[in-house]
Amino acid sequence: QADDLASTTLLATDKPVMIAPAMNVRMWLHDATQTNLATLRTRGITLVGPNDGDMACGEYGPGRMAEADEIVDAVIGWFGVSAPLAGRRALVTSGPTHEPIDPVRYIANRSSGRQGHAIATALARRGAATTLISGPTHLDDPAGVTVVHIETAREMLAACETALPADVAVCAAAVADWRAGTIADQKLKKDAGSVPTLTMAENPDILATLSAAGNSRPGLVVGFAAETENLVEHARAKLARKGCDWILANDVSPASGTFGGGDNTIHLVTAKAVEDWPRMSKTDVAERLADRIADHFGSPA
Ligand code: CTP
Repeated sequence: QADDLASTTLLATDKPVMIAPAMNVRMWLHDATQTNLATLRTRGITLVGPNDGDMACGEYGPGRMAEADEIVDAVIGWFGVSAPLAGRRALVTSGPTHEPIDPVRYIANRSSGRQGHAIATALARRGAATTLISGPTHLDDPAGVTVVHIETAREMLAACETALPADVAVCAAAVADWRAGTIADQKLKKDAGSVPTLTMAENPDILATLSAAGNSRPGLVVGFAAETENLVEHARAKLARKGCDWILANDVSPASGTFGGGDNTIHLVTAKAVEDWPRMSKTDVAERLADRIADHFGSPA
């Protein structure tokens, strides 16, 4: 019978099926149920629970639904994913910032947000409670991640500070270094013969601020260095200047096709060493970084 949404869906799918049945102990132990169960087992359906225990009806025995955590663990286990970052909190910045000039114009950059979003996804998949602070992008919010949408660098910094404490912060956003010194309340009007001059003010450096956050400093602070030349040398200088723990130096020279593209060539620079990663997709960079972060923390919190 497939006369409800669940059984109709199960009949229509060719994907693996896992069931977490729950019912009264006599119903569960009944021949009819056990024979049907044997049929399901021969069809490769995986069972989670039921457990022995108290039932809503007041009886006791097998038939109590598996706990939610057991079901989640069974699903995670099925996919072969472990959760080494369970109990850790992660903060990720992503995307560009938009710095307004007047109500209709802004300064932006070409960051797509793909790398930062992929990192947030990878950390969340490893069990970290992840907050993604994102500038304007065309990407969907990653599943299982708390997403805070901001526009300017100053909003991004404020959102990061609100999201603390964190065990790890990864600053992948392409934060605008400067904003307009004054933001016009009204749209700047074209005035024949005169061209406006834009004066700029310096934006806060989010990576440097998080790295110097005293007691609230995340245990591991990771930044990116977008460089067009002398990659590792500039990354080392940036590591020291910003006070972070790791820098992922990536080549953003026009020839590399990194900005807006799908791939990244990364060199992981720490105070002690430089690791050259082969050219790989931004998703693979995110997976590898998340594995490195999990290794850094060792056993789950
Ligand atoms: N970053 C930040 N806040 C800023 C500027 C940069 O958090 N206002 C972070 C980026 O997210 C990145 C790292 O700092 O992790 C380096 O960014 P990058 O643009 O390479 O460095 P800049 O500090 O802008 O230095 P430069 O432009 O001189 O290379």
